[in-house]
Amino acid sequence: MTVHVLEEFDATVTELAVVASDVLLVTLERADGAVFPAWSPGAHIDLVLSPGVERQYSLCSDPADTSRWQIAVLREAAGRGGSEFVHTALSAGHTLRVRGPLNHFVFDESERYVFVAGGIGITPLLSMIRAADAAGADWTLAYAGRSEGAMAFARELRAGHPERVDIYASDVGERLALDALFADVDDSTLVYCCGPTRLLDAALELAHDWPSGRLRVERFEARDVGAPVREESFEVELELSGLTLTVPPEKTILEVVEEAGVLVLSSCREGTCGTCETPVLSGEVDHRDSVLTPEEQADNEVMMICVSRAACPRLVLEL
Ligand code: FES
Repeated sequence: MTVHVLEEFDATVTELAVVASDVLLVTLERADGAVFPAWSPGAHIDLVLSPGVERQYSLCSDPADTSRWQIAVLREAAGRGGSEFVHTALSAGHTLRVRGPLNHFVFDESERYVFVAGGIGITPLLSMIRAADAAGADWTLAYAGRSEGAMAFARELRAGHPERVDIYASDVGERLALDALFADVDDSTLVYCCGPTRLLDAALELAHDWPSGRLRVERFEARDVGAPVREESFEVELELSGLTLTVPPEKTILEVVEEAGVLVLSSCREGTCGTCETPVLSGEVDHRDSVLTPEEQADNEVMMICVSRAACPRLVLEL
C-alpha cells in the first residue's frame, strides 16, 4: 500500500442540479482553469466547507473528463451539517477548497460484476458501472432505496440498461433479497457494495466464507468496533520526527501527534476516509477503521491514526 499525498485546489461550483429528492448533483471546476488530477472509479474527494469542516464525497462523473468533478450530496437532516451546508449555502459561482482524489474502493478487472447500492451508496458505483459496461463485462446492479424518487440516477440507469438494473423501492414494498442475489456469485465475479451499515453488514455476513477480495464494500459511516484491545496508555515513536509520545486512553494518536506539532493530513477523523493513513514500522495495531480490508489490517503495514490504536506498549510510525 502506498502513502497518499493529496493535492488541494480551489474549485468553483459551476452547476447545481437536483437529481432526486434531497440529492443535489454538484459540478466543480478548478478556479485556476486547469484540469483536475486523473482519478479511477471508486475515488472520493474532500470538500473543505469551512475551516475545520470537511466532508468526503464519492466522485460520480466520468473519470476521462478531468475538466470537472461531480459529486451527488444527500441532504441529511440528522447529519453533522455538511450536507445541509451544500444544500442551503452553495450556489453557482461559489469557490471552495477541495482535496484529493483518494481511492480505497478500487475497481479491479473482472469478467462479471454484481453491484449493490443502498441509497446514496450508488455514487461510487456509477463510474464503476460505466467502466464495466465499456469493458464489455457482464454486470448487474441491485439498487435499493426508500422510494424511486429518492434514488439518484435510478431512472437513467434502468432506462439505459433495463436487463441489468433492478430497482427496489421500499415504499411500494419492494425488498432486495441479498441471499438470492449472492447465490450465483462465482469465481469470475466481483461484488461491489456501498450503502448504509445494515446493508453492508448483511452483505459481509452472507459472504463470510467467500474467498478474500470477492466482496468489496465502502462505508460512509464508521463501523462499530467495540472496546479497544488495550485500555491503558501506550507510546508512539515517530521515526522521521525523532519524537516519542504517550497516547493516553482518552486521546487518539492523531490528536497527540498534532499537539506535538507534527503535520498529518486528516479529514473525517472517524476512520472512514483513509486520509490519515500512516505507515507502521513496528508494533501491533488495534485496527479500528472502516477503510482497510481485513487482509490489509492483518498486514499491519499502515493504520488510520484518527481511530486505530496500539495493541502493544509501543508503536513505531513513519511520521
Ligand atoms: S481522517 Fe479519515 S480515516 Fe482518519
